[in-house]
Amino acid sequence: MVFALEKIVRPNILALKPYRSARDDYNSGLLLDANENNFGPVSLMGDSLVVKSEDNPLSMHRYPDPFGIKVKEQFIKFRAAVPSIDNVFVGVGSDEVIDLVVRIFCSPGVDQILITPPTYGMYKVTSQINDVSVVSIPLTLDDSKFQLQTDMVLEELKRNPLIKVIWLCSPGNPTGSILKMTDIRKILDSGYNGIVVVDEAYIDFCTDQNTSAVPLINEYPNVLVMQTLSKSFGLAGVRIGFAISHKDIIQLMNNVKAPYNVNSLSQNAAYEALSSASIQSMKRVVKEIIYQRDNFLIPGLLKLPRVKKILGTNDANFVLVQFCNPLGEPDNDLAINIYKTLADDFDVVVRFRGSEPGCLGCLRITVGLSQENSLVISTLEKVINLLTSPQ
Ligand SMILES: Cc1ncc(COP(=O)(O)O)c(C=O)c1O
Repeated sequence: MVFALEKIVRPNILALKPYRSARDDYNSGLLLDANENNFGPVSLMGDSLVVKSEDNPLSMHRYPDPFGIKVKEQFIKFRAAVPSIDNVFVGVGSDEVIDLVVRIFCSPGVDQILITPPTYGMYKVTSQINDVSVVSIPLTLDDSKFQLQTDMVLEELKRNPLIKVIWLCSPGNPTGSILKMTDIRKILDSGYNGIVVVDEAYIDFCTDQNTSAVPLINEYPNVLVMQTLSKSFGLAGVRIGFAISHKDIIQLMNNVKAPYNVNSLSQNAAYEALSSASIQSMKRVVKEIIYQRDNFLIPGLLKLPRVKKILGTNDANFVLVQFCNPLGEPDNDLAINIYKTLADDFDVVVRFRGSEPGCLGCLRITVGLSQENSLVISTLEKVINLLTSPQ
């Protein structure tokens, strides 16, 4: 079956005549077209941010570039497999991308999405907000590695034509596991007439750089890859996420987004972050995080009493650690108690993930600085002893 985009886009979105902002028409000259304040911004931080010159990216009295063209130009230099800026959407974090995908492809009260838990929570929450129901086919745990149950996914996609989007998270959160490219291809090759999203928020932490799904956009019209500056680039507060896909899908996203979704300060930060010097610095930090993860955090955790194992393949900047009872069985009560005591009594905050399929007894711990990793391990040891020693 040939993929037909017009068959899966919501009819009202397909028919949409998008809003044209003033900046879509002209963006230079004497700009008196957008009811901006030509006297400039109010005084901020002793005027250090107030630079009114028109070519200054911090000209905050002007609306930002609606499409983040300069950011996109930097991005495609960084991700060489992306052919053109027409294949890139810049959003307010990946979370905006998730929201747009659901709103473009899923009719409320009718269509469905498929997720493969344990996975990132926003796919489900965004769908619920939009009255789109969620089908779950959990990942399978094989030798502590999380992978797709591809045959079950394919069967469900074949059986259920209402599933418009399938969300794959690779490397997964909270699994830290990269999905097999052969499985992703099987779904794309199955004739599925919907969108296959691959969320690559943590891709830079993968030691094997050939694992990204970005090159697939050159082969398949229905794959959409999400990336973000929130993790490897350390810019979570700036809120910049990317969708990389066929240009027709990117066009739909541009049509539906708010006119000036990404503000000028964030566009400027993203432009700088994607310069070659900043990319080198990102790579150095990523290397240090991986070093800390593999040489200190994981070995330190594995030495602790009641730590059963580390789940997943650790292809990210966190680890998923499973706690057990004296019989060696995963223990959710212990994990919750450790989690609460760490936060309430020791100001060390990690994430309880024991309610997710396949994650019984699990906490997710982000890799920190060297001293933070030492502190989390020594505090965990104290807390485990406190909670498990006979009264
Ligand atoms: C898998 C995954 N995707 C997306 C996001 C959201 O990213 P952003 O900060 O770009 O919205 C997160 C954040 O934790 C995540 O773990």
